[in-house]
Amino acid sequence: MEKTLIILKPDAVQRGMAGRIITRFEEKGFQICAMKLITIDKNLAEKHYGVHKDKPFYPRLLQYITSSPVVVMVLQAVNGIAVARKMMGATFGSKAEPGTIRGDFGLSNSFNLIHGSDSPEAAAQEIALYFSKEDLQSYERANEKWVYDVSGGSPE
Ligand code: RTP
Ligand code: MG
Repeated sequence: MEKTLIILKPDAVQRGMAGRIITRFEEKGFQICAMKLITIDKNLAEKHYGVHKDKPFYPRLLQYITSSPVVVMVLQAVNGIAVARKMMGATFGSKAEPGTIRGDFGLSNSFNLIHGSDSPEAAAQEIALYFSKEDLQSYERANEKWVYDVSGGSPE
């Protein structure tokens, strides 16, 4: 099982898309471990997107991500980081494949609706930025054995 940090960015919340995007992950079979609505401040944005600090789009990225509330979630699945990135689609809305979240819901290359961790290291760092250990709910889902084949002892 892998946890990933997902952010439904300001445009997703402002455009009323948060529920539809959450539904996609629920329908896929992801388990929600934590979720909250917050406004990201400049300090937190700099920590989150520090890797991009020398990029030309960095000032506008900070402005965007702090401009309005976001939904922050920790989602869990087998191979969850890669599966979530695939569901998000390519970074630019104009290039993202139909069927992906960015491909179906957006056109902008900057306002691209959603963030998802891109590696296990990034996921661990990002989850710790937004949530404490106690915030992460650990619970058994009633339908777990129909989401995965658990007959071999581990979810497949
Ligand atoms: P994210 O980190 O938000 O999940 O997105 P990503 O991995 O697909 O893309 P990344 O290269 O990490 O870029 C971070 C965010 O910066 C904005 N961006 N704008 N206008 C531009 O050229 C440009 N390039 C990147 C996007 O909001 C992108 O998601
Ligand atoms: Mg990224």
